[in-house]
Amino acid sequence: MGNPWFETVAEAQRRAKRRLPRSVYKALIAGSERGLTLEDNLKAFGELGFAPHVAGASAKREQGVRVLGQDISMPVLISPTGVQAVHPDGEVAVARAAAARGIAMGLSSFASKPIEDVVATGVPTFFQLYWSGSREVMVARLDRARAAGAAGIILTLDWSFSHQRDWGSPSIPQSIDLKTAVKFAPEVAIRPQWLLAFAKTGKLPDLGVPNVRPRTEPSPGFFEAYGEWMMTPPPSWEDVAWLRSQWDGPFLLKGVCRVDDAKRAVDAGVSAISVSNHGGNNLDGTPAAIRALPAVADAVGSQIEVLFDGGIRRGSDVVKAVALGARAVLIGRAYLWGLAANGQAGVENVLDILRAGIDSTMLATGKSEVSEFSRSDILIPDGFTRALGAE
Ligand SMILES: Cc1cc2nc3c(=O)[nH]c(=O)nc-3n(C[C@H](O)[C@H](O)[C@H](O)COP(=O)(O)O)c2cc1C
Repeated sequence: MGNPWFETVAEAQRRAKRRLPRSVYKALIAGSERGLTLEDNLKAFGELGFAPHVAGASAKREQGVRVLGQDISMPVLISPTGVQAVHPDGEVAVARAAAARGIAMGLSSFASKPIEDVVATGVPTFFQLYWSGSREVMVARLDRARAAGAAGIILTLDWSFSHQRDWGSPSIPQSIDLKTAVKFAPEVAIRPQWLLAFAKTGKLPDLGVPNVRPRTEPSPGFFEAYGEWMMTPPPSWEDVAWLRSQWDGPFLLKGVCRVDDAKRAVDAGVSAISVSNHGGNNLDGTPAAIRALPAVADAVGSQIEVLFDGGIRRGSDVVKAVALGARAVLIGRAYLWGLAANGQAGVENVLDILRAGIDSTMLATGKSEVSEFSRSDILIPDGFTRALGAE
């Protein structure tokens, strides 16, 4: 094997593509329908520019920020992703990398590892829920997260079951038994490294979702948990306020892109929102999340913490989001590519790439703290922003 270190997130993605079975790789690419939103999430960052100085920079540059009650070493958090079978250590490898680099992590309710194992790595863990199941079931999930030592809750609401993908959805097996192993064999056979990593653990990928039931109960399979969610009537803002009232501590509502929703989220008592479109996996045609950020940050940024996710692939992207009003960003695919490319070390590699990119952007723009960034540091083309749902 060559040097496992990689230089950019783009290179991590190329390695992930070579290493993962096609279905697993496609499940990470995701992007609903035509992929317009997925594409715009990335393209929009390329439209924003900088005007660097050449002298007068600060020799001491500090990236630390306080987010959701946690002091973290840079304005980046791990976004929750419900992805199975990328790596045998899954979310625990991601958690170890996040802890090693001093940041915090969102853990999906569709994650493959128990929350107790993730918290045990020492990473501040924010457990992510969907509006799924009865109120009792949701309270039981909060109870388990509390008992495990979660630092807060993420409620993700931007999912409207838009499953169609023009490029063809990957099929997700319920579990990997001999029959499915045979079905996937042609893909897996040409991805020996991936299979080898699992073979070393003595187990095939586990497609159970261990965090949606109390610890004492057996874990449902992915489809059972997904079915429960699909059958649950969508929440009202009163429901959101109710769930928020069941958790005493930081509570992030993830998936807001409209100003009017952001204001309602404030009224519902949340402590933070993430301006997001679920990484382009939800309603296709939603503009890039970065286009929606400035108006939302202007409307509610003085009342609650405004975070951002969608399309972060380099340190300068983090800076652009911070300058446009985010206190910090969450990353999804960037760390998944790192995990697929080189396990825990690959996630650390991605976090180091982001940190170095933030640092060089601070050097070029003469900043000593990330909180010094403002809109005036960014070249924003006319018509870039989208004030969705503003009066
Ligand atoms: C494969 C995949 C699975 C995801 N699963 C979840 C999930 O279970 N819960 C959630 O809140 N968001 C989920 N997301 C959305 C991410 O948390 C995040 O919003 C998105 O990936 C950000 O965009 P980026 O990938 O461009 O960084 C998922 C995203 C991807 C790509």
